[in-house]
Amino acid sequence: MKVIKCKDYYNVSRQAANIISAQIIMKPNAVLGLATGSTPVGTYDQLVRWYDKGDLDFSEVTTVNLDEYRGLSGTHEQSYRYFMNKHLFDRVNVRKDHTFVPDGLGEPKAACAEYDRLIERLGGIDLQLLGIGNNGHIGFNEPDTAFETMVHIVDLKQSTVEANARFFRSIDEVPTQAITMGLKSIMQAKKILLVAAGKKKMDILQKSLYGPVTPDVPASILQLHPDLTVIYTESEE
Ligand code: F6R
Repeated sequence: MKVIKCKDYYNVSRQAANIISAQIIMKPNAVLGLATGSTPVGTYDQLVRWYDKGDLDFSEVTTVNLDEYRGLSGTHEQSYRYFMNKHLFDRVNVRKDHTFVPDGLGEPKAACAEYDRLIERLGGIDLQLLGIGNNGHIGFNEPDTAFETMVHIVDLKQSTVEANARFFRSIDEVPTQAITMGLKSIMQAKKILLVAAGKKKMDILQKSLYGPVTPDVPASILQLHPDLTVIYTESEE
């Protein structure tokens, strides 16, 4: 495991974008596993800046995202497809039909099996970008998720549903389920890049990287990955 401490969020984003762009330069048709959430936004902005300068070409890249809410279409502003279009896909020359986000509208079992098959058909993920939740979740894999899981459906905790209610017109519209790559799907990526920023993530990051490997802390399984890079900052800026 390689751990890189940065002085601020800007440098986390630059370092992460450096690793992603090196991956694309080494393998122009790379399969990138991507994440949503606030932490990777700066990484995507940096990639876009390099693309605008002409230093980066996404024309042969394929992307597969970690997760999606169930019940939201890709045009819904809270869907992860919408997030990815807004922060990355609409701003670079990736082919839209080479960008994949789990299907939040399909029949659950079929949608999970289809996403597993897709990743296999693509030859696996070359580089998986991850954020980490305050409880150590990665993707939507909350504490106590079995390490063996592939793509699966999760029931969101009532507290998550309530916290998300502010983004919707009423609580009835808030998704109660999500579809996510499982811990095994994530561990099968050839390389993993984990980004974390801010004081509130430091305790769980420490536990994940140096504590016992246990389903209580889903991200702790990453310790067993042969090619893990962690880029973090304690800074709130
Ligand atoms: C997002 C995802 C989540 C986030 C995590 C951290 O696709 O899978 O696991 O990475 O919740 O989110 P932020 O970066 O907002 O702190």
